[in-house]
Amino acid sequence: MSEKRGFFITLEGPEGSGKSSQARQLVQALRRAGRRVTFVRDPGSTALGRRLRRVLLHADVRGMTPLTEALLFIAGRVQLVEELIKPALAKGRIVVCDRFHDSTMAYQGHGGELDVAWLQVVGRRAIGGLMPDLTLLLDVPTEAGFRRVGRHRDRMERKAQAFHRRLRRGYLALARREPRRIIVIDATQPKTRVAQHVQQIVFKRLRMGRVLPLRDPTVRPRPPTIVGGPAGGRRGPPLRVTRPTEKSYGMV
Ligand code: TMP
Repeated sequence: MSEKRGFFITLEGPEGSGKSSQARQLVQALRRAGRRVTFVRDPGSTALGRRLRRVLLHADVRGMTPLTEALLFIAGRVQLVEELIKPALAKGRIVVCDRFHDSTMAYQGHGGELDVAWLQVVGRRAIGGLMPDLTLLLDVPTEAGFRRVGRHRDRMERKAQAFHRRLRRGYLALARREPRRIIVIDATQPKTRVAQHVQQIVFKRLRMGRVLPLRDPTVRPRPPTIVGGPAGGRRGPPLRVTRPTEKSYGMV
């Protein structure tokens, strides 16, 4: 996109991956480093998005088909992109978004067993092809994730475990297809360790993209290994990254 000058980062993951608190910490770290950051969540952040979020997540809403769900999530995202993300990127800001298009692919596509190829096309076209520069996928096994989810579960969290297992595999399949954009981080590690990985990867990518942070808190640690990154990124101690197993790709 010609008007895009900033840097677009998304965080993704199954339930209980800790992605929202990691997103908050990342935003704080970027701001401490002097970067101008717009922090949004999908669905949400716009007036319409907040309303759609209530409809989509309210446990009392019953019988919604995966396709209805997908189209509502996409509709909310179109609004978010037009109202907030595109203008922020045009001003050269870093945008951190808690979930985005990959969530629709994982949840409604793989979890809801929609036609994944069709959903890719529709989902991407709806947002004019605006995809993140970098996506951090916080991977956690379904059972471990649900141990972190509170007792009050929303409509999505109440779906069957089989749905959640499919969507986790779906996420890993997406990462396999786009290894440069989607970096998988093992979110079963202690939160501080996950935060370190997240920040190292982001600051390194910003340096590579010449979006130089004013003060870079990760200058001292050696650069991490970035799965799927260029050879130059392979120097530091290897990240504990969950590698998709063959079984994970059975669906694709
Ligand atoms: P979260 O903000 O706590 O992650 O909640 C959002 C919920 O909505 C979560 O269960 C994932 C789900 N979701 C989808 O199913 N499809 C989507 O496209 C998006 C953005 C979220």
